[in-house]
Amino acid sequence: MRKPIIAGNWKLNKTVEEAIELVEDIKVKTMDLDKNRMPTVVVCPVFTAIKSVADILERGKGIYIGAQNCYWEDSGAFTGEVSVPIIKDLCASYVITGHSERRQYFGETDENINKKAKAILSHGLIPIICCGETLEQREAGRTDDIVKNQIIADLQGLTEEQVAGSVIAYEPVWAIGTGKTCDSAEANRVIKLIRDTVAQVSSRDSADKVRILYGGSVKPSTIEEQMSQSDIDGALVGGASLKAEDFAQIIKGAMLVSSPN
Ligand code: PGA
Repeated sequence: MRKPIIAGNWKLNKTVEEAIELVEDIKVKTMDLDKNRMPTVVVCPVFTAIKSVADILERGKGIYIGAQNCYWEDSGAFTGEVSVPIIKDLCASYVITGHSERRQYFGETDENINKKAKAILSHGLIPIICCGETLEQREAGRTDDIVKNQIIADLQGLTEEQVAGSVIAYEPVWAIGTGKTCDSAEANRVIKLIRDTVAQVSSRDSADKVRILYGGSVKPSTIEEQMSQSDIDGALVGGASLKAEDFAQIIKGAMLVSSPN
């Protein structure tokens, strides 16, 4: 059975002080939840707040830390970049890669994302590999091809074990930050297609193990229906993860419909 994940992507928000306040609030609001039934919870602050947030959370006690990006080289003359060993040193265990905002505003390609996924995995961290179509691509009937091609390129050269241990997030670009969630049955259909693509490029076993999240305007009111779908293993949450109450409600909503082992 795949253990669900609820991950919060804080994007470019929160100073160190604000991040500490938010994570303390999340900690208090999730304190009484049954740890055995709780999904894996991940928060992804900006780089500068990772250490302070990590100091507040006790690793292995339900809430993990992620970074929102990384560079694929470990060190060297790469001004402005942050590498996986440096992220690991801050006690983060997850790294988001291939988010559509990075693809759109920072020219990130599937080739870059693949290199980043390999770097993340080679240091024992878990990549959250994002994929998803734009509105234009959806309206042109290209959703399936776009998503399939992204996944094939992003996972290229990964071992079956590495694929099984990765997390994929299907985030239709038109649903991100717009308040427009993708219909749950449709999100499940695309996620199944992603799983079948993983089976083709890796193996059926790794496809059955890889956790695939939905992302795009996830809210407390949408999570139960999303989690009740056969192939949706959790959520990557943007806006709603910046409000401790909403994020805690999303975690609780996920627990109502899933029973992780
Ligand atoms: P959103 O963002 O929940 O604000 O739509 C999701 C994401 O970008 O990961």
